[in-house]
Amino acid sequence: MRDEQTQTQRPQWGSRLGFILAAAGSAVGLGNIWKFPYITGENGGGAFVAVYLVSIAVVGLPIMLAETLLGRMGQSSTVGTYAKLSSPRSGWVLAGWLGVLAAFMMLSFYSVVAGWTLHYVWLALSGGLTAVDAEHLPAVFNALRSDGPVNIAWHVAFMALTMIIVLGGIQRGLERAARVLMPALLGMLAGLLLYCTGLDGFGPAFDFVFGFHAEALTRDGVLEALGHSFFTLSLGMGAMLTYGSYMRQRDDFITTSIAITLLDTGVALMACLVLFPITFSYGMEPSAGPGLVFQNIPVALSTLPGASSLTVIFFLLLTFAALTSAISLLEVVCAYFIDERGWTRRQATLVLGGAITLFGVPSALSMSAAPFMADEHGLVGRNWFDSLDYLVSNWMLPLGGLLTALFMAWRVGDEARRVAFDRGTSLGGAGQVYLAWLQLLRFLVPITIALVMLHAVGAL
Ligand code: PHE
Repeated sequence: MRDEQTQTQRPQWGSRLGFILAAAGSAVGLGNIWKFPYITGENGGGAFVAVYLVSIAVVGLPIMLAETLLGRMGQSSTVGTYAKLSSPRSGWVLAGWLGVLAAFMMLSFYSVVAGWTLHYVWLALSGGLTAVDAEHLPAVFNALRSDGPVNIAWHVAFMALTMIIVLGGIQRGLERAARVLMPALLGMLAGLLLYCTGLDGFGPAFDFVFGFHAEALTRDGVLEALGHSFFTLSLGMGAMLTYGSYMRQRDDFITTSIAITLLDTGVALMACLVLFPITFSYGMEPSAGPGLVFQNIPVALSTLPGASSLTVIFFLLLTFAALTSAISLLEVVCAYFIDERGWTRRQATLVLGGAITLFGVPSALSMSAAPFMADEHGLVGRNWFDSLDYLVSNWMLPLGGLLTALFMAWRVGDEARRVAFDRGTSLGGAGQVYLAWLQLLRFLVPITIALVMLHAVGAL
């Protein structure tokens, strides 16, 4: 490791576990526990979940491998990697830029949602949740959503936390915290799942999530399922590429990527099997939208002893999961300015973190009565927050993924790609895996993404 470090002058993960924790921390976040269940609910369940699972396996995993490998080959930020592996004047560099832009935009609204989780920690701590009954929880959430100043305050607080961690660089403290807190979140979800299997609503919920109700799926739903497979695996905007660039050359990126993909998908499905049984048992709506997790968890926990402490713990763990994702978004943006523009980490974190915080203000105000926040001012009848999410998740990330696949499969030199792939892969039969992966990236992945996009705009 030492020789690689001095040779490249770049920071690296302290261990293989460091990379796994950081990459899994990036992947598992609000996308799994907040967003996936609520968009599943809005899209009518099973068929949407099926499209999502197929996208993860056929498109997500090959791109995850491509991104981490590109990062490891390029040893640079996303823009720098495209420049190095093609040429600095090549149009491919724009693909790197697309990633930086997507990360910037995404963090601005991601942080607002993370701010809601902080607000719920505070609400639970101050007893503001146990005092209300199930019917009033939607009103609690709506009151928060429409309160501009409170949204801004929590958004700023969360961005500050994110910046403090990114300032530390590829840091020990976070690796150590992730080692304890991520398993704690998993343990808590598993406990809740066990509890929810005993609820009356578990049967209907299981059918809702895994029954194939094709009629509920729309054109936009298919695009959203594909887009979400990128969102949840942190693909299509260079996060895995950037984290891969800090990976040691001998580490096995294949088993690691498979493990992260399985873990991420497992957490998302578990979240659904926790939230929907609660929905059905308490007569709530599966299509409750962004408030789903904020309404369901307090209801379920309210029947247990120590309800308010459990609620505090749940939303704290969720905040932590959001934090390990948010730092990877900020890192994508900062890495460009550090690696390509020679900024110090401190300058990059403060300036860019500050800019993202400002850019997030309209998202924080999206449901308030602030001017220009009504739905008709945004994209296709959405407010600012939803427009950004729609644009980034459904269009920019799949486009980024498409470009990653095409670049790796058709532009990177065969020899270099092969050598990089073989290095540090302990997998038997790596030759076949390589060929299968390459064929997927050459044809199936780009064709699938292109077809889904054409379908979404009604051209198919
Ligand atoms: N994967 C994260 C989640 O599921 C979101 C994310 C996307 C983080 C892209 C980093 C990069 O919440």
